[in-house]
Amino acid sequence: MNDADPPSSDSRLQRWPWWPLLPLYPYGRRVSLLREVIAGRVWCFEQLHGVWYVAVPIRMTVLKVEGGLLLYAPVPPTAELLIGLRALAEQHGPVLSIVLATSSGLEHKLPVAALARAFPKATVWVSDQQWSFPVPLPSSWLGLPAGRTKVLFRDGLPHQDQLVWVPLGPIDLGLGTFHEIACIDLVTGSLLVTDALVTISATPPTIFDLDPAPLLFHGREKGSEAMINTPDLRLKGWKRIVMFANFFRPESVHIASLADLFLDAMAADQANPRNHFALYPFRWAPCWEEKADQFINHGDQIAPFRLAPVLERLVFVRAKQFYLDWLRALAKQTTIKSLISAHYSAPQSISGNNLDGYADHIDATDWAPSQGSWQLLAEIDQTLIRLHVVP
Ligand SMILES: [Fe+2]
Repeated sequence: MNDADPPSSDSRLQRWPWWPLLPLYPYGRRVSLLREVIAGRVWCFEQLHGVWYVAVPIRMTVLKVEGGLLLYAPVPPTAELLIGLRALAEQHGPVLSIVLATSSGLEHKLPVAALARAFPKATVWVSDQQWSFPVPLPSSWLGLPAGRTKVLFRDGLPHQDQLVWVPLGPIDLGLGTFHEIACIDLVTGSLLVTDALVTISATPPTIFDLDPAPLLFHGREKGSEAMINTPDLRLKGWKRIVMFANFFRPESVHIASLADLFLDAMAADQANPRNHFALYPFRWAPCWEEKADQFINHGDQIAPFRLAPVLERLVFVRAKQFYLDWLRALAKQTTIKSLISAHYSAPQSISGNNLDGYADHIDATDWAPSQGSWQLLAEIDQTLIRLHVVP
């Protein structure tokens, strides 16, 4: 039994009216990787998204629940994704629930309307205090279907016999709120998180096997170098993408002069859209890899996951206790075995001890620093304060 629209709607769903407005990689050629994480119970659909080849995985998790499926953290429902999802629905039951568990994450919010149209019988669950910028719009204008959209906690919780829901926030950001709700599947011990915890693996996630271009682009020292698919270039590219995605302007990179940039591009054997016409403006200092390795999970950190710096410095900078309380509430859930977050790598084996240990570590160390690679994030925060954008 499948409750999705007929296949003829696929092409319509692919034509995102907004994507040409945003310089988002992969520019409408999005591929989806379906992975079965726990046989017959948990699956992930992964895609790449980003800007200027700074592309990181974004992930929707599919859970088997009583009578059908639940989708957590929507991703764009391309034709390829819908084929995979319909195949799961044929085997395991219809899509019953679509969950947008964040009030602020635009990349998770944008796909909800199209996914809801593809599964017109599913209930859409959203975290409270959804918001839009620059104009506050009502939920129906954001594409959330009237009549079958419910707010988590306010209107109840889906599949409570199997799932535990643990809220983080809401935290007042001035323009709106940060409000995220983690989901724990008691059957498999999976902890589903949208943005508030990530595992940044030491090697590139598998999705890059389908499309290594972002890794090869950033693995080079100059634009004139060829984007040759080697393990070394892929690894360097991954580490640099991690630094860009987390800090925007890592301390160990500087921008080439225009003369250097264009002279180098003219020396290239190939100049095409794939290598951005041989223009690569970033120059990395010799120490860059050491700094990246301090940040990436090599198995020797306090915990195999972390809060992304952009959230630590811009969202939780004055709300550390909210975050600690949430970690400790999760740590009490003794069934947790693995973390599946909506970005970077998953699944990651974890335990309550990991969550408590990370909370202790945060409590004992500097929070939201302003030095080194954190400097740009700190400047953004200070600017928002000066403009009275954040309270
Ligand atoms: Fe996100």
